[in-house]
Amino acid sequence: MTTNPRPLALVTGASSGIGAQLARELARDGHDLILCARRVERMQALADEFKAMGAACTIIAADLGKSGAAAGLVREIEAKVLVVDVLINAAGLGGQGRFHKSDPQRIGEMLQLNVVTLTELTRLVLPGMVRRGRGHVMLLSSTAAFQPGPNMAVYCASKAYVLSFGQAIAYEVRNTGVSVTTLCPGATATEFAEVASVANSALFKGSMIPVMSASEVARIGYRGLKARRSVVITGLLNRIMAISSRLSPTALTLRIASWMMSAAR
Ligand SMILES: NC(=O)c1ccc[n+]([C@@H]2O[C@H](COP(=O)([O-])OP(=O)(O)OC[C@H]3O[C@@H](n4cnc5c(N)ncnc54)[C@H](OP(=O)(O)O)[C@@H]3O)[C@@H](O)[C@H]2O)c1
Repeated sequence: MTTNPRPLALVTGASSGIGAQLARELARDGHDLILCARRVERMQALADEFKAMGAACTIIAADLGKSGAAAGLVREIEAKVLVVDVLINAAGLGGQGRFHKSDPQRIGEMLQLNVVTLTELTRLVLPGMVRRGRGHVMLLSSTAAFQPGPNMAVYCASKAYVLSFGQAIAYEVRNTGVSVTTLCPGATATEFAEVASVANSALFKGSMIPVMSASEVARIGYRGLKARRSVVITGLLNRIMAISSRLSPTALTLRIASWMMSAAR
């Protein structure tokens, strides 16, 4: 057991975007960190920055898109005799295109990363938090969770899973001292759009709703985590969009989502 009085946060997807900004929020707020992603140099640069804020950082390079990755990560953490007080599941991946033309290997990696590893890692870390009667878990979903998404079908379905899963376990642990917050950002300026090939889409051009910065999303998300909120949708327009998606006829939301997620021609 660590005797360090500073709480320790494990952040997946810490090398870039929203995960990196959430790690920065945590470091600023007095946490030590375990940073996990594949790109070590990126995490090393963040660790150097966070050390100057007084945060001790452990870097664990892992491909979380592979089967068994969550168990491997937790084994490494336990071998270092570290105890996780805050878990941020930010690692995620999108992909644009018609489902029947998508690369099956990429679909498998997306589901493994966005759904399976997130679930397994939460399952491995949550019991210790419940036993100790304290802790926070954050799951990165998306406003994509609120409607089916033609042209990003698997990604939107994976985020709908995360939202459903997050809300359910938040309810299960509501009286244990542990909180579970599902963060649902709208389009955010990170490497996500480039990786998912949606940088030219109406969604990421901000045609309907302005694209937010990762630092703003992290600030809102971290505030929600500290307030122990179950679901946080970033920004008023995204909240309106998410709620109206739920209330509108499916035929209409399918058309709008399909347009928003198509690459511009
Ligand atoms: N940007 C948006 O518009 C948006 C909106 C709503 C929700 N989200 C969600 O927010 C989360 C963070 O995304 P982001 O926007 O910050 O995108 P990003 O800048 O591309 O960051 C993705 C992070 O996930 C990590 N990652 C990807 N594949 C991985 C793998 N196989 N193993 C380990 N780590 C992996 C990346 O690190 P390495 O490449 O170094 O491994 C990176 O740190 C995702 O879950 C995404 O679905 C994003």
